[in-house]
Amino acid sequence: MKPPATSSSSTSRNPRIISPYQIFILSAFILFAIFLYCQNYIDINNNQDPRPPSFAAENSYKKTVPFSIGETENGCDVFSGRWVWDPANRPMYGEPECPYIQPQLTCQKHGRPDRDYQFWRWEPHGCSIPSFNSSLMLETLRNKRMMFVGDSLNRGQYVSMVCLLHSLIPDHAKSMQTFGSLTVFTAKEYNATVEFYWAPFLLESNSDDAVVHRISDRVVRKGSIKKHGKHWEGVDIIVFNTYLWWMTGADFKILHGGSFDDKVKEIVQVSTEDAYRMAMKSMMKWVKKKMDPERTRVFFTAMSPSHFKSIEWGGKPNENCYNETRPIEDPDYWGSDCDKSIMKVIRDVVKFPVTFLNITQLSLYRKDAHTSIYKKQWTPLTSQQIANPNSYADCTHWCLPGLQDTWNHLLFVKLFYP
Ligand SMILES: *[C@@H]1O[C@H](CO)[C@@H](O)[C@H](O)[C@H]1NC(C)=O
Ligand SMILES: *[C@@H]1O[C@H](CO)[C@@H](O)[C@H](O)[C@H]1NC(C)=O
Ligand SMILES: *[C@@H]1O[C@H](CO)[C@@H](O)[C@H](O)[C@H]1NC(C)=O
Ligand SMILES: *[C@@H]1O[C@H](CO)[C@@H](O)[C@H](O)[C@H]1NC(C)=O
Repeated sequence: MKPPATSSSSTSRNPRIISPYQIFILSAFILFAIFLYCQNYIDINNNQDPRPPSFAAENSYKKTVPFSIGETENGCDVFSGRWVWDPANRPMYGEPECPYIQPQLTCQKHGRPDRDYQFWRWEPHGCSIPSFNSSLMLETLRNKRMMFVGDSLNRGQYVSMVCLLHSLIPDHAKSMQTFGSLTVFTAKEYNATVEFYWAPFLLESNSDDAVVHRISDRVVRKGSIKKHGKHWEGVDIIVFNTYLWWMTGADFKILHGGSFDDKVKEIVQVSTEDAYRMAMKSMMKWVKKKMDPERTRVFFTAMSPSHFKSIEWGGKPNENCYNETRPIEDPDYWGSDCDKSIMKVIRDVVKFPVTFLNITQLSLYRKDAHTSIYKKQWTPLTSQQIANPNSYADCTHWCLPGLQDTWNHLLFVKLFYP
């Protein structure tokens, strides 16, 4: 571009006096520049999402989000809501109709006297959500792999997903097989699999054996996500969880070198929070490296709460979820079994492209939904235990059908209507 006439290259012989016309042009230019600057500034502020940048990024990405077929009503938080008694529409399948439920979760079969826990439907405050459509879900999985990775709570969610889908498939066209840490449900005619991979810490640990993993002195190897991660590569939809195994009530042991079996180990003890943050960061790093956000979806299921202290919801001391048949009604209920500092770590670290399934609060209300004493027992009960059912009630895991079907319903909503 040629410099304007006011510049030194001016051909005019006159002394360099700025004419009123030039002043006009100059001020017009300055005003225009200010205008542009302000305009930009206003735009930036209008677009500024009050939520953290990860969510804003997710918003602009929505148009191309894989698997999406619609949107949840603007700004609706589907995880904030209430439980509604709805026996006409719940449960989503019958316990005897799903042969895949492990005996630790079949509460009716193990003598639970009520079925009330099956009849609650989750209703978000801000909007109504589409029903779970099992044919849509199964059709979407054609030629694809969906995998749940984590601990026994994630295994429950995995089984719930299989139960929600399997009735569409005739017996001869489906199978369930276990290969060490990996369990695979196959819908043959769809060339689809729904899989579960046991990795209670996501990272390599001394609790990785899929069967023998009841170790109280838990050790996790730093930065070792690849060890298990190589079994997740190529998956189209992946659902992670990890929480309970970190809650040892003491500092956590991280292995920095050598082997778990070495007599002398390079162990560093860190706080639970720091150990958990380290694992979350490893997960995010793995996802960014291995999962293509234009083709895949990744979810992280938040902490699953336990209900071991009845006194926290107004019950008697020394009791727990045993004999509970109704949800907690206090919308602000939060029990001490559920660590808020871990929630904060999740909030800080889990970001786009991982979708956070914030099921903690809605599950906190469900003191009635645990397996309690109505499950297969690993070891015979003593007469002392039998005399005091509170002493052996499982207030961590959930009956199926039940609460975890709702987790999958919300996963369905976040997958198809992000
Ligand atoms: C999870 O949902 C609850 C209930 O809506 C909300 O109070 C909490 O802030 C959410 N947590 C995160 C990390 O978004
Ligand atoms: C469920 O999904 C299938 C396949 O996409 C579709 O044909 C059907 O109409 C859906 N059903 C409902 C009730 O929306
Ligand atoms: C079957 O699914 C796998 C992914 O799980 C895919 O790689 C393969 O191409 C599919 N086979 C056919 C015949 O489409
Ligand atoms: C269970 O709760 C009911 C009331 O909800 C009570 O009548 C009953 O005694 C309780 N049973 C036991 C064994 O605690």
